[in-house]
Amino acid sequence: MDEESVKAEPPARNSEQLIMRPATKADLDSITWIVEGGFPDDPGCSYKYPYRAEYPADFWKWTRREYEEYLDQPEKYVTLVTTAPVSVDGGKTVTHKPVSLAVWDISVETKSNGSDLGIDKRRDANPGHMRVYASTMAYAFEKYFVRYGERQIHLAWLITHPDFRRRGAGTMLCDWGRDMASQRGWMWTVIASPMGMSLYQHLGWNMVGTETIRVQEEDESVDIYIMEERFKPAGWQASVVTPIATLASLSFGALYYIFGRT
Ligand SMILES: CC(C)(COP(=O)(O)OP(=O)(O)OC[C@H]1O[C@@H](n2cnc3c(N)ncnc32)[C@H](O)[C@@H]1OP(=O)(O)O)[C@@H](O)C(=O)NCCC(=O)NCCS
Repeated sequence: MDEESVKAEPPARNSEQLIMRPATKADLDSITWIVEGGFPDDPGCSYKYPYRAEYPADFWKWTRREYEEYLDQPEKYVTLVTTAPVSVDGGKTVTHKPVSLAVWDISVETKSNGSDLGIDKRRDANPGHMRVYASTMAYAFEKYFVRYGERQIHLAWLITHPDFRRRGAGTMLCDWGRDMASQRGWMWTVIASPMGMSLYQHLGWNMVGTETIRVQEEDESVDIYIMEERFKPAGWQASVVTPIATLASLSFGALYYIFGRT
């Protein structure tokens, strides 16, 4: 589909018309279009790829490859898209198009097979910034999240195209992770941008720290926000668990009273 013809038509604004589904390789152009339009609102984008306006083909090529690599590792990454109805052909045809994406790392201890994303070949990037960004993210993950081991679902990417924001696409994708974490009794973790932080705080999730990404001796920097949430396992009910816990502690107290003092 021609991305320009989609942009020309105003999209439907009804969030109930959004549909979430697993992404496939047939979505790669749409995914790259979402990233090209939406990622620049994350300060990390301009930090790592300051020359993307001069070299849009490089940004497109390596972004597309990055998401293809996620799709090539389904045992580690779950890539989801939310689609919205858009009219094309001057309003004659309505079709569903991916407008938002999420990549969840569901096996954080499995090593990623990803490439180096062209760090020393691409002309849109600042290689030093790419390196310090990656090393600070790894440091933050180690500091805050390694303790949870495999028992976590980690949000690696979440982006909604600017033309389709504030109608629930990001929330829908986050809900998928919340449900999975809740079913497994796992932690939900993310290292967030400022816009991501606003969404996750709206969802009620906790900020546990911040870190700053910076090359020594440089003024330019990017702040990242460490967020997590522990969901109660599915089936957990306060009305059942609380009385059992109370009974157990009462019994323990009674036993201590009878035998503990002898
Ligand atoms: C963060 C992002 C994915 C949110 O996507 P979205 O589809 O617009 O999110 P939703 O529509 O589900 O937002 C739900 C709620 O989150 C909060 N929220 C979302 N974006 C917000 C923003 N920019 N500022 C303040 N609150 C925001 C609001 O409370 C919103 O509800 P409301 O629209 O009724 O006020 C999107 O802004 C984006 O792509 N940003 C750039 C890339 C990025 O930084 N991604 C996050 C990486 S961690």
